[in-house]
Amino acid sequence: MEKQPNDDNRISGYGQGAVDSVISVEEVVRQTQAIAQDITTEQLDGLVDGDPYVVLENLTAGYGKMEILHDLTLKVGRKQSLCLIGPNGAGKSTILHAIFGFNNIFKGRVLIGEGDDKRDVTRLSPNEKLSQAGIAYILQDKSIFPGMTVEENLWMGGFLKDQPAQAKRAAEQVFDKYPRLAARRRHNAGVLSGGERRLLEISRALVMDPELLLVDEPSIGLEPRFIDMVFEILHDLQHGEGKTIIMVEQNAKKGLEFADIGYVLVSGQLAIAGKGDELLANPSVGDLFLGG
Ligand SMILES: Nc1ncnc2c1ncn2[C@@H]1O[C@H](COP(=O)(O)OP(=O)(O)O)[C@@H](O)[C@H]1O
Ligand SMILES: [Mg+2]
Repeated sequence: MEKQPNDDNRISGYGQGAVDSVISVEEVVRQTQAIAQDITTEQLDGLVDGDPYVVLENLTAGYGKMEILHDLTLKVGRKQSLCLIGPNGAGKSTILHAIFGFNNIFKGRVLIGEGDDKRDVTRLSPNEKLSQAGIAYILQDKSIFPGMTVEENLWMGGFLKDQPAQAKRAAEQVFDKYPRLAARRRHNAGVLSGGERRLLEISRALVMDPELLLVDEPSIGLEPRFIDMVFEILHDLQHGEGKTIIMVEQNAKKGLEFADIGYVLVSGQLAIAGKGDELLANPSVGDLFLGG
């Protein structure tokens, strides 16, 4: 029997939020599997600008003994952006966790660097990823310390630096870049607006000057004007500062408009891969993830 949508599994949060045709997560999974393609390594290589900078090579990973990602390959070039979309529970966040070292990798490798500088970082801890491999993970829910000031929160972003003074210098660079935060530097982070808090979360990761930003759902919980602000900031980080970005975004339209490369994930496997604008123009992707 067809499962009826209910409050627990409706997908009204997807796309533009037009909810006249709500379908269940199970149904989205089924329909995504139906449009899944056989994706070759050559195809993934073709989406990369130059030599791949980040490679997940046949990664099988999960939590405890549970396997969530199955033989997953991902490639992105330096200074490119890649957006992961797909139904709830597909394993999008798990990919970011696997890159950063938050979960168990059973098989496969995570490589970072270009050409001869490629380095296997599969077994590094999150702290090592941040301090040695230039990888930052942004936006774990409630990661801001509300009782600390904005500048103290930024300094915390530099906790792995050898000298506290280095973290403070890096924080000053963030304040130079974002006057909006500078104006609030001695305020408690708990009084910031949603958009300012998101800016603080992103800029705290910048204190370590990472090359690769892993960004999980940057638009979640934000008012539309702040969503645009966050995507502008990410755009500047990619195109102005040359950061490489891998993001998960439930607002698939925003995410695919932003990203050079889009992957649709379902049940821990790649279903479709293409340029961001190709996925935006793909009618099946549109029906399922872009609000019709
Ligand atoms: N910390 C965890 N421990 C165990 N299982 C988890 C954990 N986080 C996520 N999962 C499971 O992994 C699967 C993929 O989750 P997730 O990567 O968060 O999906 P997505 O980000 O695509 O919505 C889900 O079945 C989820 O229940
Ligand atoms: Mg997620």
